[in-house]
Amino acid sequence: GTTIPIAPGKAIPERQQPTSLDECRRCDLWQDATQAVAGQGARHAKIMLVGEQPGDQEDLAGKPFVGPAGELLDRAMDGAGLDRRKVYVTNAVKHFKWEPRGKRRLHKTPAQKEVMACHYWLETELATVAPQVLVALGSTALKSILQSGSVTMKDYLDAPFQHEGRWVVATYHPAYALRVPDAASRQAAFEAIVEALKTAQRLAD
Ligand code: URA
Repeated sequence: GTTIPIAPGKAIPERQQPTSLDECRRCDLWQDATQAVAGQGARHAKIMLVGEQPGDQEDLAGKPFVGPAGELLDRAMDGAGLDRRKVYVTNAVKHFKWEPRGKRRLHKTPAQKEVMACHYWLETELATVAPQVLVALGSTALKSILQSGSVTMKDYLDAPFQHEGRWVVATYHPAYALRVPDAASRQAAFEAIVEALKTAQRLAD
C-alpha cells in the first residue's frame, strides 16, 4: 500500500498515519495521559531541545517543560544566554507514561517501541522547524534521535556529532540534575547542561 516517508530510507504504511497528534494511536500511552504534548517554540528555530516525555505537570498543562525539570532547564538556558523563545522545545514521546504511587503519578521510562512509534512526530517537527542543532536531553532523546535503543549517553557526552545533516549535542536530562543525591554531582550535571546549550549555540551560528 501507500507509505509515508518519515526519514531517509524509512516509511510507515499510510493506514497507520494518525490525522493529528491528539488522535495518535501509534502506541497505547494515550490511554492514561490527559493529552498529547506537542513541542513548542520558534517555528524555524535553529536549535531544538529534545526531552524524554511530558511529566505530571506537562501532561496537565499540555506544554513541554513547565514543571520542575522545566524550571531547571530555564535556569540552564539563562546560564547559557539562550532565549527560550528562540529555540524549539519538544519531547521524544508526546504522552505521559506513568504508574500510580499512592496519590502521585510516578514517571515511567518509555519503552523503545513507544519511542519509535512517537519518532513519527519528532520527524514531523524536524521537517517543519528544520533546526541545525538538536540537543538530546537524556538518553531517551538520544535513542529517539538515533532510532536505536542500544545507545549509551556516556559515549556521546561532550562530543557533538553530525547525524542526518544536523548537529547533535547530547547531555543530561534536567530531571537527572535535580535528583542525583549529592549536591556536587547535581551542580556538575547542571553545568554540563549549560555547556551543552552553549555548544549548541556555537554550532548554530
Ligand atoms: N521531562 C521531560 O523530558 N520533558 C518534559 O516536558 C518535562 C519533563
